[in-house]
Order: sequence, then C-alpha cells, then structure tokens
Amino acid sequence: MRVSSPPSYQWTALFVLLSAFCTLFTPAVSVKYENFKTCDQAGFCKRNRAYADEAAATSSWKAPFALAPDTLSWKNGQLKGTILKTINTIGETEKRQKGEIELRHNSKVRKERYNEVESWAIVGGLGLSRNAAESRDAEKTTVTYGPDGKFEAVITFAPFGIDFKRDSATQIKFNDRGLINIEQWRPKIDRGVPEKKEGEEETPVPEVPAGEDESTWWDESFGGQTDSKPKGPESVSLDITFPGYEHVFGIPEHAGPLSLRETRGGTGAHTDPYRLYNADVFEYIMDSSMTLYGAIPFMQAQKKDSTVGVFWMNAAETWIDIIKEKEAHNPLSLGIGSKTDTKTHWFSESGLIDVFVFLGPTPKDVTKAYGELTGYTQLPQEFAIAYHQCRWNYNSDEDVKDVDRKMSKHQIPYDVIWLDIEYTDEKKYFTWDPLTFTNPIGMLEQLDKSDRKLVAIIDPHIKNTDNYPVVSELKSKDLAVHNKDGNIYEGWCWPGSSHWIDCFNPAAIKWWIGLFKYSAFTSLPNLFIWNDMNEPSVFNGPETTMPKDNIHHDNWEHRDVHNLNGLTFVNATYQAMLERKKGEIRRPFVLTRSFYAGSQRMGAMWTGDNQANWDHLAAGFPMIINNGISGFPFAGADVGGFFGNPEKDLLTRWYQAGAFYPFFRGHAHIDTRRREPYLAGEPYTGIITQALRLRYALLPAWYTAFHEASVNGTPILRPHYFVYPSDESAFAIDDQFFVGSTGLLAKPVVTEGATSVDIYIPDSEVYYDYFDFEKYQGQGHKTVQAPLEKIPLLMQGGHIIPRKDRPRRSSGLMKWDPYTLVVVLGNEGTASGKLYVDDGETFDYQTGAFIHRSFNFKNGVLASSNLGTKGKLTDKYIKTMKNVGVERVVIVGAPKEWASKASVKVGGAEAGIEFHAEEGGKAAWAVVKNPKVAIGEDWKIEF
Ligand code: GLC
Repeated sequence: MRVSSPPSYQWTALFVLLSAFCTLFTPAVSVKYENFKTCDQAGFCKRNRAYADEAAATSSWKAPFALAPDTLSWKNGQLKGTILKTINTIGETEKRQKGEIELRHNSKVRKERYNEVESWAIVGGLGLSRNAAESRDAEKTTVTYGPDGKFEAVITFAPFGIDFKRDSATQIKFNDRGLINIEQWRPKIDRGVPEKKEGEEETPVPEVPAGEDESTWWDESFGGQTDSKPKGPESVSLDITFPGYEHVFGIPEHAGPLSLRETRGGTGAHTDPYRLYNADVFEYIMDSSMTLYGAIPFMQAQKKDSTVGVFWMNAAETWIDIIKEKEAHNPLSLGIGSKTDTKTHWFSESGLIDVFVFLGPTPKDVTKAYGELTGYTQLPQEFAIAYHQCRWNYNSDEDVKDVDRKMSKHQIPYDVIWLDIEYTDEKKYFTWDPLTFTNPIGMLEQLDKSDRKLVAIIDPHIKNTDNYPVVSELKSKDLAVHNKDGNIYEGWCWPGSSHWIDCFNPAAIKWWIGLFKYSAFTSLPNLFIWNDMNEPSVFNGPETTMPKDNIHHDNWEHRDVHNLNGLTFVNATYQAMLERKKGEIRRPFVLTRSFYAGSQRMGAMWTGDNQANWDHLAAGFPMIINNGISGFPFAGADVGGFFGNPEKDLLTRWYQAGAFYPFFRGHAHIDTRRREPYLAGEPYTGIITQALRLRYALLPAWYTAFHEASVNGTPILRPHYFVYPSDESAFAIDDQFFVGSTGLLAKPVVTEGATSVDIYIPDSEVYYDYFDFEKYQGQGHKTVQAPLEKIPLLMQGGHIIPRKDRPRRSSGLMKWDPYTLVVVLGNEGTASGKLYVDDGETFDYQTGAFIHRSFNFKNGVLASSNLGTKGKLTDKYIKTMKNVGVERVVIVGAPKEWASKASVKVGGAEAGIEFHAEEGGKAAWAVVKNPKVAIGEDWKIEF
C-alpha cells in the first residue's frame, strides 16, 4: 500500500500489507442490463460489499489490520512500515512475494501483484518533500508536511487508519469504517467427495472455515463465459471518508449528474456502486452508475471553501460505493445546521492499494496537483478545437470531396472531415478500399487547399485473414495479446475474426510506429487518427471485452491492466503520429473512446454512442464537465446523437451546445439519414452556421483556455463550484459553466421546446448578454430568452475576450486575421483578459515561439503587456506575427461620457471611436476601429 500527497508538497508512506482472509456474503439480487455485471454478479464486488455490511452490523467491528510500529522507518520524507492482518495470518503473502505460490490451471502469468500502473499514468510530481517531519508515540505517528507544514497525516497503528488534516481539521479519513481489505492468495481445496477405493478408509471432506464463503473465489462464469481466475480471489479495498463534505465529483466515465449520487439504494440513489471497467456499452442509459468506455479513478470532495481529492491508482476493475450521512447528532453542528459526511468505499479486483491524497484547499489546487502527477492536457493543434464533420461513413473519396465543396459553398466553416471504418479494404487498417477510395491523395490534396484535415479511424483489432501483411507481421513478431493458454488471442470485432495488438509491449509500439510512415500508409500530413474500440471491444467476449485471464506482455494478466488498455493503444498511435517522416515533427491529434488517468496527455475523448434524443443532449455537459475536473478536459459528445435521426430543432440545439464542447464533432451511425448542416434547410442551416461561426470567432479564447489547461490543469468548462467554492447552495449545478477564464457563462438549451433558460448568476458583478448586451445583475436565477436562434450566453463584467470575427472556411485560413477585443467592463469600470497564440501545429512553442499577452483596462486606458518568458524562437515568432493586429475594440458597458468622444489616443496617433447609448435594458457600448496595434507588442489605447 502506498499513500502520497500533492506532488509539490508531498510525503509518501509505503506500507507492505500482509493479509489473511475473511469473507462473508449477501444473498443475490436480480440481474439488470443483461450484458454487464451488476455488483452482485462480480465476485469481488459482492464480497467487499458484504464485508462492509458485516462491519456496519457489528458494533464492536475493528479492522483486522495493524501497523507494526517496530517496522516503521522515516527517511527523506518517506515513511515505510508493515501492516499486518491481525487474524488468520497464514503467512502466504511472503510466499507470494517470493513467487512461491501456485497458480491454478498451470497458468504462466506473473505471481506478484501488478505494480506498473505508475509507469503509464504518472509523469511527475513524485519528488519527496524535505521539510516533512514525523513524530511518533505509542499509538500513532504524525507526519507534518505541505506548505508551512499545514498538512498532517495522523497514522494510527491498531487498527490501521490515517486522518489527513489541513490546518488541524480532518479532511479525509482512511479506514474510518474499518473496511480495508486485501484478499490473499490461497490454495484451492478440493471439497468434492473423494472417490473411495476398495479397502480404503473414507477421507473426510475438508470443511470451509467459519465465516468464509468461497463460492465466488474461483472460476467465475457470466453470460456463458468462464473466467479461470488462476490466482483466485485477490481484491483490495479501502474506505475513504470525507467528513463534512456533502458533494463528491469525478470518477468518470458515467452518464449522470456531476454531483455523484449515493449508491446503496434509497430515494435518488443508485443501487450499484459506480463501476470503472472500460467497456463498449451499447446504447447506454442515462443517470446510471454503470460503467462506460473510460475510467479515471480520481475523486474530488467539495464543501464550503474546501476542496480535497483522492486518486486511486489501480487499473483493474474497480467499484466505488458512496453513502452520505448527516451529522445531525454532532453537538458541534447544532445551530449551524447539520453537516454531511460523504463515505466512500473503493474496491478493485486485483493490484495494489496505491492512493494519492490532495488536500486543496481550492479546486484549482487539487486539479493542478493531480495534473502534476498524471500530466496536463495536451496542447492540441488548433484545428483540433475547431469543428469536425463526421459520420459512419463518407462512402468514397468523391463523397468526401463533395461534402467539402458543399460546406464551402454554404459558407459553413469546418476543419476536419472524418472517415469511419468503411474507408478500409474490408476493415483492414492501413489500407484504402480499392473501389471507393481510389484516390486518397487527391482527396487529401483538395482538403488541404482550404487548410482542412482528414481523420481516419484505426482500431486495435487486426483482421485475421490471409494476404494482409499487418496481421502476418503481428503474428510472426508475436506482438498480439495472448489467451490464457499462451496462444494468440482470437475474437470478433468489425472485421470478423481478429487479433489485438498488445501495446503494453514496447516492441509492439515500435512496430506500430512503422505502420504510420507514409510509405506504409498512403496519406499526406493532413491526415490524423481516431482510435476507437480500445476498451477493447470484443463482440464475443465477456461483457463485450477481452477475457480477464488473457495475457499481456511480461505475463501480466489482462485483469490487472484492463482499464489501462485504451491508454496504451492511444500512446502507441500518439508516438507514431509524432514523426511520420524524419523531421516532420508535429503535435499529434488522436481521438480516443477508452481512457485512463493520463490519457489527457495524448489527445481528445468523446462520450461514445449516445442517442439522438433530448436526454442524451442534456447528459453531455455533466459528463464533459466531470471529465474536465478529472484532468481530461478535451472532451465532447457526438453532436446530433449517434443513434437515430434527430428532429431539426434537436439537431440545431445540439450544434449550439456542441459549439461549447471542448471537442466539437458531429457524428452519426451508418443507419441514420445524412445530416450535414447544409441539409437541414432554413432556418436551421442558418442557425447552425451561426453557432459554428460563434465557435470560430471565439477560437482565440478557446485556444487560450486550452493553453491554461495544458500548463496548470484548470478545466476548460468550469462548473459553478470550481469558480465559486464558497457558494455551497449551488455546488451541484452542472448545466451551466464558464469557458476557461474568459468570463463567458453559457447555458445552452438542452430541453425540447424551451424558449428561455434560467441562468444562475453567482455574484453581484454585472453580466451582459453576449449578443445584444442586455444587462443582468444580482445573485440568483435570471431568465434569459432563448428562441431557437439564440444561445444563452452571458459575459461576466471585468473580462476581456479575444475574438477573430472574419468568417472563413477553416481555422487554418484565419491564421493571419486580425483580432477583435471585447472589453466587458465590470462594476468597478475595469476589465482584464489573456490571449495565448502560437503556430497551432508544431512544438516550437516549447522553445518560445508564442505570444502570451495580458490586456488590462483601467482608468480609461487599455494596455497590452507581455506575460510570456523569452525563448530561443520568441523574437522570430513575434516577427512573423507583426502584421497581425487588432482591428476592433468593443467596450461593453461604456461610460456615457464617451458619447461626445470622437477619437482615442493610440501611442502618438489617434483612432476613431463610435458610441452606442444604453437602450432599454441593453448596455451602452463603444467601438474603436482599426487602432493599428500589433497583437504581439506592448501598446496602450487611451480613452
Ligand atoms: C463505435 C463508435 C462509433 C463508430 C462505430 C463504427 O460504435 O463508438 O463512433 O462510428 O464504432 O466505427
């Protein structure tokens, strides 16, 4: 077991857990959603819940785990010790560590517990703090650490437990409920009736030890498939309590509200724990704790003015129970209302207990520290945050070219057109269908003329067929996943019989890189990649995925690494796309369906196969927001809905919502009708085009938000609690959000027939409607009109928003366009904002090729100043940008004295100003036209 704290102020505790076993059980409940297991159908889930129930029902319950004080050592900010199971110890753990245990079914898998999640998920932040200190007494030891020593970990020896404190108040408790458990290896005892031979004494059948039920220990069957479980039961679990915290967020991916529900039944609660077991869940249902395609075992807890978090670094199947308990009995809470404790219980099928603790105190502190560990989101190519046009499938290269031409003809901006699986020659990746895609280069060239890109899908299943060099090499080089018997694993996916590349294997990654060279895959540099089905999805596998007893590189069982599988595949593709030919180094763009903590470093994700209905439209934002606060903000949902044909108003509203997804892509199932925006007809096409243009105009603001996320982990869509961690009555809001630090507050319409929405205004600042400057002020809900053509979007006073207003065919063609700065004056008559710009495609920004500006309006002066540090390429880059200037400054909430102003001073020169007086509820505004200032330089405009 390992416990760590936020990287920048850290201490680490390493405990070796020696355990023995004790298990109980509950009776079965009825089966739901037949393709996927309920907790009761997953042996270890059932056992751990039963264990929790037993503990709760036993008044004298004490966790049978104790830290042996004489094993403790403290060195360089690291505490090490051994925790012993205090009952039934049979000493097998040592055997296991030495590899002396026996596996069943002659299995060749590794005998130790999987300990390599870190090598995939963690990229930094593990340095140990030198100022941490330890003080010990007979019952406990206390580690003081963090900034000004304000964090403490109080470790009690018997039973073992840890209280994490900040400023002396307990924020997180480990093993508060005594549910820590480590199932150890044990031999299977044959309890069958022994055959009695002639003349022999009858051998007695060994008895099951009291309190133990071994019905779920061994081979486990589900849906007609059997998991051989060569190591038997080996789950790990821990309860984590957040005292005084009413809300917990995170642990994506699930369809449901941002504020996680309780999971042990009752009104508004789920009956199953939240499950993390990456799977291809066909037609997933809303508001459920069921697993989906990705897993990030990171949770944040929120109470007034305090945010804390935990990261449970385990890649095996994991379930998390959540209960909330009102502390009405607490005499301290009398008079100030009762507080709620959120109590969580985490259990994983195998692996280690390896937990990171984040003590905040702000949401930003927590996401920053989590990002230091698992990496910040990739700074994407700029085209990747523009609009993507996809469907399953564009049928031919001519079809692609036709859509491309029609989008241009209708003046609908888009950057990327996508090809789903049908572009291949019979689902053989790295090939083109010889009848329908006869000229892929010609197609890519046409797209390139408008600086547009193509994304092609490449999945991890490799068709098992003759005359396909990719599969022959996969086999001859032995780079595929193996089945439990050590032979190449064969299953079914889109191509029919397939094998799966094992991207845990460095040799497989190396081989994969070679497949993307231009010589191996006919294409041009404007081709990028979509990795789908990487849970992995196996149509005839248990729960539509790979058997858990399959074997990966280095003889690790699939069971141990399942939730990492998708990440490893994207990692291989990312590596391949970095340099497709020598010297052509560019930021890859890879879209993934499956993910784990750390996947944010490699690309974007989307929420999989949603449906063309209003519920799915509404579900998108909570899911995307939740992903964002869990370190992976480059997220989106299929615009229009994947399954089914959206009505035109739904499609239109979905585009308006999509314009606020960090990853913005229209996509549709092969059986749906075509729905490219120009097909909708008026007024829909026009309204959709406006939504797209809004996204394009705001790309500078979006890119700046991505940059911020890429350097400090701050989410791109920021939910209310993240920005207002004191406003506890509104912590659960998940249908409105701020875009980065821009002050843009959006609440796209997601309900059928709505003509207005109620936006919650969080403070006393003035807010303006983005489109007509209507003013809203005063904390509380305000009704904002939202006829079909209108997106409810406000600008919070006090911000400066960078835009590019000239409509173009693609973002690439906007590169040299001038900026518009929207200065949104706040209550104090001031405003500030930021802009980050670089070439949007290479890594030159890492050597200084970027512009990072701060804009400030104060005392009638708008000034641009530099935020960036100088690097080798800075001067050169700023020179290339010297003709890119500001064409317009719009001041919203302009003072009425400006009515008589004819010009403003720009350095030694002057520029004209136009004033528009306040009208009804709409604020006064002014425009400075063409002030002739460069975007990369210092300047001042005096009003
Ligand atoms: C999966 C994907 C979907 C894709 C389809 C065909 O269902 O989630 O987006 O269109 O496979 O590749």
